[in-house]
Amino acid sequence: MAKTIYILNGPNLNMLGKREPGIYGGKTLSDIEADCRKRAAVLDLLIEFRQSNHEGALVDWIQEAGEKEAAGIVINPGAYGHTSIALHDAIRAVDPLPVIEVHLSNIHAREPFRHQSMIAPVAVGMICGLGPMGYTLALEALAARL
Ligand code: DQA
Repeated sequence: MAKTIYILNGPNLNMLGKREPGIYGGKTLSDIEADCRKRAAVLDLLIEFRQSNHEGALVDWIQEAGEKEAAGIVINPGAYGHTSIALHDAIRAVDPLPVIEVHLSNIHAREPFRHQSMIAPVAVGMICGLGPMGYTLALEALAARL
């Protein structure tokens, strides 16, 4: 039976396409979702693709992925990635569910406040700076672990 991967997106990612296109590119979040659905079909994976501007909703969805025995999580936590102990703890709470952190931009080449990730220490890996391709590469990586 096909396994499910949760693809979770944090604050302001609903603005992709309009938001700072010089940094984040011209694709909308719906375009990225379509790319993920195409790649998931090839990899025989099901996906739950979600976005919220609210930290608690992201925590709820990480817990849901654990309860529903999802095969993994791809998360672009947006700015919460730099600040959220709650997301860090939620990921620890669903261990050993594998989590891959994705950022469209290269957070290490940007302002110092973006260099820290609260997610990276509890993720199996992190992809940043590769734009929307980071999402499909993360799906490939999770599929390879199954
Ligand atoms: C981001 C990087 C974060 O620093 C920023 O707050 C975002 C987007 C990215 O995808 O590059 O909202 O997660």
